[in-house]
Amino acid sequence: MGTAKLTYDGKEYELPVVEGSEGEIAIDVRKLRAQTGLITLDSGYGSTGSCTSAITFINGEEGILRYRGYPIEEIAQNAKFSEVCYLLIYGERANKEELATFTDELTRHTLLHEDMKKFFEGYHPNSHPMAIMASMMSSMATYYPDSDADVDSNIIRLLAKAKTIAAFAYKKSIGQPFIYPQNDLSYPANFLRMMFAVPSEPYTVDPIIEQALNLLLILHADHEQNCSASTMRMVGSSEANLYASTSAAVCALWGPRHGGANQKVIEMLENILADGGDYRDFLNKVKNKEDGVRLMGFGHRVYKNFDPRAQLLKKAADRILDQMGVDDPLLNLAKEMEQAALSEPYFVERNLYPNVDFYSGIIYRAMGIPTEMFTVMFVLGRLPGWIAHWKEMREQPGVRIHRPRQVYTGANLRRWNDDK
Ligand code: CMC
Repeated sequence: MGTAKLTYDGKEYELPVVEGSEGEIAIDVRKLRAQTGLITLDSGYGSTGSCTSAITFINGEEGILRYRGYPIEEIAQNAKFSEVCYLLIYGERANKEELATFTDELTRHTLLHEDMKKFFEGYHPNSHPMAIMASMMSSMATYYPDSDADVDSNIIRLLAKAKTIAAFAYKKSIGQPFIYPQNDLSYPANFLRMMFAVPSEPYTVDPIIEQALNLLLILHADHEQNCSASTMRMVGSSEANLYASTSAAVCALWGPRHGGANQKVIEMLENILADGGDYRDFLNKVKNKEDGVRLMGFGHRVYKNFDPRAQLLKKAADRILDQMGVDDPLLNLAKEMEQAALSEPYFVERNLYPNVDFYSGIIYRAMGIPTEMFTVMFVLGRLPGWIAHWKEMREQPGVRIHRPRQVYTGANLRRWNDDK
């Protein structure tokens, strides 16, 4: 692919150039320090490729997202979440038999070890469910020991039990008894039942809600080297186990700039509505950068034209709320704000568009999912992606521990005894 030339201090260095399968070109700087004594500086990693990966392709200029080569639009229309998990983690679509075995295992491993229920007794009743998710993910290592010989079993356990943990965290927060999984239900239906059934009443999963959840999980399933997937790889590069790495990824996702944005979008819309519904004041604050306020659910590091997930979710929000007969003023407000923002130079000049979090919360609300659980829903969707990244990294030869360098800007040498 040729080389790139770097000239510094009167000397010229040649650096190899690598090309990805979709034409992404990168200068390979792995030997830069050894050859030149220089390092690169890229805080936020906007121009840094941290790895090569064959899982997900994004073209941010054209709004393209593909899992293992398949366009997100086709997957969203045709696939079940469990099929997407298999595809992302194992690289190819499962054949009939493989899918039957995988789905069966995912179902049978949904139950938690009985003693693990005791963990929930210790959490404060007002705990944020993301805190419970993070600690329960690493606690799984205490009950399901990790070994390299058993990676596939741990992958299944993690995927299967995460939804039980999520539902138990919710039940704990409202003081209701835990509902155990039921093996004849799909992945989304099983979760919905554990969330919303109560022992004293019959519960049937609404197929509209089941399909809506299937779609949401699929649209969140992977997004290449985002903050939480990179965290998963970073922690995994120290050879920390799958559960520990996932716990770290959950924590990374929690922040409002990442997965926590879905909760913040709804809180933002609710506040605007409570203040009379005039969003123009709010948009002015955003444009004037007052108190660092941002339009939550807008903007993306990679998408500079549109986020295909947001487009699918906007249509889905209309369809699902209509099917359910829900008239949510937040949906109208969100649409009006989107329209207004997209005609403002501030947003246009900075290529700020709605991202996946702008409309997802409105669908979760219609489904009866409480706002504090939104980011947990993101966890359930993103798990197969994290696992795929962890597994890919573990299987790549020659992966070194992730250990960036820095440009030190602190004090020069001073003597302890001189400062007396
Ligand atoms: N509202 C107002 N201004 C914004 C926003 C926003 N949502 N996002 C970016 N900007 C401005 C930012 O102030 C900066 O302006 P300037 O050039 O004048 O300094 C410019 O746009 C570039 O922003 P940035 O912070 O350098 O962009 P980034 O790529 O580092 O950050 C982001 C991406 C998603 C963190 C950011 O757009 C953001 O904070 N958005 C709101 C939170 C959000 O919705 N997050 C969900 C992301 S998608 C799902 C996921 O991956 O979790």
